[in-house]
Amino acid sequence: MTAEDKRSISDFLDLAEDAVRLGYRTERRPRAFSDDAAPTRAGPRGDGAPRPAEAPRAGADDSLERIAAEVCACASCRLAQGRTRAVPGEGVERPSVLVVGEGPGADEDSSGRPFVGKAGQLLDKMLLSIGLSRETNCFIANVVKCRPPNNRDPEADEVGACAAFMDRQIALLSPRAILSVGRVPTQALLKTSEGIGRLRGRFVDYRGIPLLPTYHPSAILRDENLKRPAWEDLKLLRDLLSEPGRS
Ligand code: URA
Repeated sequence: MTAEDKRSISDFLDLAEDAVRLGYRTERRPRAFSDDAAPTRAGPRGDGAPRPAEAPRAGADDSLERIAAEVCACASCRLAQGRTRAVPGEGVERPSVLVVGEGPGADEDSSGRPFVGKAGQLLDKMLLSIGLSRETNCFIANVVKCRPPNNRDPEADEVGACAAFMDRQIALLSPRAILSVGRVPTQALLKTSEGIGRLRGRFVDYRGIPLLPTYHPSAILRDENLKRPAWEDLKLLRDLLSEPGRS
């Protein structure tokens, strides 16, 4: 792990601790971190652990590259007209965790990469705080792959037009767990109208895969009070992944 990664985790943990213990942010003396000798690298899980039994099966000739190419060529709904770049998703091929967000914002629309703006930077810190990252053991995608105008919520038909992409990604990735960030992706995946405040904090079964709803990092940036419950959710995910055969 790099010194920068360690600093990010430490910052997030400090934030979480302040939120839990004090309810406000304190100033802390900077700490020194150094790079580990050999940083861990991405790769197939290769741990021989069983896949979720009821997980959807990928078509034999399907691939993440093929899905990405189809996403980039897709014109199935009105969102395609306003996009600069489609955002298929990114991460490792056999992830421990699939993170599912709502849809690209301005930074994602211009870069073609998911969660690269302010919310994405917080998401990366949240993941790192429990040993996860898009470089090593996560895949990050959104329920809609093109930016909704002015960052409005995607409409049901737009989510529907993208649903097959998400289904195929889940089938191929076969993650150990899904972290669904925010109301929109959680309601879309679970086909519910329940609010995120009621849905978060416990795993639900999604086609044989444990799915944990939590708050969207943008919401956490807007409301400090959501840091504590989000941290509690991350700990649940960390505990699940630390069960034998799950990491
Ligand atoms: N918010 C999301 O839900 N997804 C992104 O990719 C970026 C911001």
